[in-house]
Amino acid sequence: MQVFGFSRAIGVSIALTLSGQALAATPAEIALAEYNEVMVLTPDPDNGRKVYLTCVVCHGPEGWGTMEGIYPQIAGQLRTVIIKQLADIRARNRDNPLMYPFSVPSILGGPQNIADVAAYVAGLPMTPSNRVGPGTDLELGEKLYRDNCVKCHGRHGEGIEKNQGPVIAGQHFNYLLRQFDMIRSNRRKNANASMVKQIEGFTPRDQAAVLDYTSRLRPAAEKLAAPGWTNPDFPQYVRSGTPMSSPVPPPPAMPEMPQPPVMPPMPEPPAMPEMPQPPAMPSMPEPPAMPEMPQPPAMPPMPEPPPMPR
Ligand code: HEC
Ligand code: HEC
Repeated sequence: MQVFGFSRAIGVSIALTLSGQALAATPAEIALAEYNEVMVLTPDPDNGRKVYLTCVVCHGPEGWGTMEGIYPQIAGQLRTVIIKQLADIRARNRDNPLMYPFSVPSILGGPQNIADVAAYVAGLPMTPSNRVGPGTDLELGEKLYRDNCVKCHGRHGEGIEKNQGPVIAGQHFNYLLRQFDMIRSNRRKNANASMVKQIEGFTPRDQAAVLDYTSRLRPAAEKLAAPGWTNPDFPQYVRSGTPMSSPVPPPPAMPEMPQPPVMPPMPEPPAMPEMPQPPAMPSMPEPPAMPEMPQPPAMPPMPEPPPMPR
């Protein structure tokens, strides 16, 4: 049985790679071609750190995302998963309107930058305190997890690197809920077809229970950050102390179509500085008071006209 959909299109990918340009290819085929291109490169984590500057504004300097789960934790995710998701997102094989503008070649760079940033992110230690579910239905959750998820995500949610099966342990609960929902309702284009089938019969209670359990699966100790750890690569970053939940700056205008995957190497991506506030406008000086208009002199009374001669 073919469990993972990604290997299915290998023939297509070879054809695409040989022809160099993906002509009239589907988003899935374009993404797969780029994935294969990235996977043969040797990553340079030092450049990965520079490329990661683009990601910091949303995923945070530690890569831990946000507790409320708008931005996922990506730290410690498997390299193959990160590469696949980046290739999918920029080929629009996974809709991600917030991140898309930052994933295009003119910002993120070509395959080498993807290889580099993926290695960097995969090596970041994971948060020891992700947001977990309410903890009310864990017995059911555990049973469902064992019966339905282990073969593709691992017993401890550690993922399966060679199959691009994501780490789901230690992920924020609400992010898990949203992705699971999107996968189930076929709104996540790159969903794994066998997973969709596997979870077909899940009730809302099943779904909440299994994801609560999943959010509580602990990553291996060596993948976790020590309490209080901050990423020394970004010492200047202002960390608010509370989980980041600030709104994202508006993304640049959407370009028409993603560029074909093969691009010249990029210079460093720009850091995303806070927009400086425009200086306050000085208040306008009051206009000088208008001088009173001089009154016209009083007209002397008109002399009586002389009596008309008779
Ligand atoms: C403007 C905000 C933003 C920026 C910048 C951004 N991302 Fe994302 N990213 C997101 C959001 C939002 C999601 C989740 C989308 C969803 O809910 O489906 C996401 C999802 C991801 C995922 C998929 C995670 C998963 O578990 O499925 C990866 C991998 C990722 N981002 C990596 C990166 C990298 C690497 C960079 C920098 C090159 C980056 N992102 C820049 C917002 C951003
Ligand atoms: C047949 C294999 C398979 C089974 C069974 C399976 N999954 Fe998945 N799952 C995957 C793959 C592969 C992906 C990544 C798909 C992609 O985007 O490339 C995924 C993605 C996910 C995601 C999104 C992760 C992210 O970081 O965005 C969640 C959450 C998830 N699975 C949870 C579960 C749970 C919970 C179960 C059990 C109830 C389960 N899956 C069963 C293969 C499977």
